[in-house]
Amino acid sequence: MNSFTFHIPTEIVFGKDSESLTASLVRKYGGSRVLIVYGGGSVVRSGLLEKVCRQFEEAGLEYNTLGGVHPNPHLEFAREGVKKALAWEADFILAIGGGSVIDTAKAIAHGTANPDTDIWKFWLREAVLTKTLPVGVILTIAAAGSEMSDSAVLTDMESGVKRGLGTPFNRPAFAVMNPELTYTLPAYQIACGTVDIMMHTMDRYFNPDTTNQLTDELAEALLRTAIHNGSIAVKNSRDYGAMSELMWCSSLSHNGLTGLGGKKDFAPHQLGHELSARFDVAHGASLSAIWGAWARYVYKTDVARFGRFAANVWGLRGASEEAAAIAGIHATEEYFGSIGMPTNFSTLGIGIQPEEVLRELALGCTYHRTRKVGSFQVLEESDLYEIYKAANC
Ligand code: NZQ
Ligand code: ZN
Repeated sequence: MNSFTFHIPTEIVFGKDSESLTASLVRKYGGSRVLIVYGGGSVVRSGLLEKVCRQFEEAGLEYNTLGGVHPNPHLEFAREGVKKALAWEADFILAIGGGSVIDTAKAIAHGTANPDTDIWKFWLREAVLTKTLPVGVILTIAAAGSEMSDSAVLTDMESGVKRGLGTPFNRPAFAVMNPELTYTLPAYQIACGTVDIMMHTMDRYFNPDTTNQLTDELAEALLRTAIHNGSIAVKNSRDYGAMSELMWCSSLSHNGLTGLGGKKDFAPHQLGHELSARFDVAHGASLSAIWGAWARYVYKTDVARFGRFAANVWGLRGASEEAAAIAGIHATEEYFGSIGMPTNFSTLGIGIQPEEVLRELALGCTYHRTRKVGSFQVLEESDLYEIYKAANC
């Protein structure tokens, strides 16, 4: 078995009505002046925000609110959030929403704890984060896994750069997860979430150093569970069983568990981030649109791994290892299609792109030729270009 470190300090409170414990959780983790961050209004319409505010009033907790986080959240908005948190002297940030809201809350927490450093410097690795404020989460969508992850992703609208920051300071103090809070999700967002959950698992599963049996088996079980319940959930968002399974899959897919002992790949994520930054497409959709092209480009690096994926995730065996590998890729794309997710640029809705755009996307993936991408197969700019080209139909 390969060695690993696993430290997830996030307290999870899962189940019906779990949000009623939010005030006591905030107190437990040292909050007394809480900045509540939320998105474009779904938590206002559902009544969740009001419910939490009332709970805080009854508990004697001071709070202020900051709504309007955009999906694929903007750096500029997070900077405004830092100003607000500092002016109001917040000591705790509560995110009510999905990955975009949680990542904005994380950024605000970092900026508030480090008022002399522009937050983007942490994302650009020009400054090292050594402290932050506690962040709590009430999750309303199973997708990004940010509720337990060590990551936060922002887009700088000025430069068009979408970038993630990985640090233990990104792990929230607690996450409240009531699957009933996801009942109001549109089918499209549930499907995007299902893809993202799968991809967090697959971006770890496909790596060059896979020797930990339990890690692999956990990943395969998680994929089968997400696939099964994703199909049910897109048809009926009020199916408690399916929404529960997806919600827990979301957290476990990206808290590190499914990749222990292996190297992360995350090339499809990087390819997708460039698409989201340029075309503002939903994160999950950007991933399904590129994954098939990536898989077909790299599978020969380890055909047996793709064969195992086909057998243990899709129950497929081929006449040869290669036939099985191809069948597994095909089944994954078919599945994406069956839940309404794109598998190329046309179905993503961005249309066929000219060659110069493909070249710019590939260049962006390499952070302007300062790095290579992925680990399953290490990709150079020319490889990334070929993958975009294959998806450009
Ligand atoms: O903004 P509101 O009105 O709340 O609507 C949101 C938004 O339009 C809506 N929504 C959320 N919960 C809802 C709901 N609508 C109805 N009922 C509910 N219960 O869903 C839309 C998408 O929300 P968003 O937060 O953007 O979704 P998601 O959780 O997929 O997050 C995506 C962002 O997370 C990043 C992505 O790149 C993207 O920016 N990621 C963050 C990661 C991390 N921090 O670990 C890892 C991921 O790989 C990912 O990169
Ligand atoms: Zn993701």
